[in-house]
Amino acid sequence: MTAADLPDVMTIERASYATPWDEIAYRQALDNEQAFLDVVTFADRIIGYAAMWHFVDQVHLGTIVSHPVVRGKGIGELLLVNVIARAISLGAGTVTLEVRTSNHPARALYEKYNFSEVGYRKNYYRDHEDAILMTSPALNDPAFHRHFKIQQMALFKRLASFTILPSTL
Ligand SMILES: CC(C)(COP(=O)(O)OP(=O)(O)OC[C@H]1O[C@@H](n2cnc3c(N)ncnc32)[C@H](O)[C@@H]1OP(=O)(O)O)[C@@H](O)C(=O)NCCC(=O)NCCS
Repeated sequence: MTAADLPDVMTIERASYATPWDEIAYRQALDNEQAFLDVVTFADRIIGYAAMWHFVDQVHLGTIVSHPVVRGKGIGELLLVNVIARAISLGAGTVTLEVRTSNHPARALYEKYNFSEVGYRKNYYRDHEDAILMTSPALNDPAFHRHFKIQQMALFKRLASFTILPSTL
């Protein structure tokens, strides 16, 4: 992601979250050396993005979003796979995140990659919804590696036939 992407990112952000981040938060993240922000594009349009922070022994997933028009087509999963792969290459032990209790699509996405619920944060969000704290298995666990590779291969096969009408974006 670059600053030039922010108008499109903010449009998707506002359509996706009850309490969206503001543009300043993204600008600060873009200037932060510990932060990694990625976009997925199709036909030169942004169809998804994610932001992660690398702390000493862990990666924290701050946001992950697919454009409303492409939901259910593997783009959110592609972003998560990218986050996990980068966390592995950075030598992080785990990926952690918070998710709204009501956010069943996101919870199912994380569970697909064997994330588990490890905590609960009451009134975590600005609108007072609670958060579930989730963490990945140990990234150096061979069983997790096998699972990750199998899911990743299936995803890439699925995405080979990905298509949408760019005019719907
Ligand atoms: C969560 C989000 C990123 C998922 O992205 P997506 O592109 O729709 O998801 P994918 O098509 O890649 O789905 C991958 C997996 O996620 C889960 N999933 C996605 N949508 C789901 C739904 N509506 N119901 C149940 N599970 C769902 C499934 O496990 C799915 O795997 P499957 O296709 O084998 O069933 C998307 O819904 C989104 O942008 N939501 C708004 C922002 C948000 O809430 N982000 C998460 C913050 S914690």
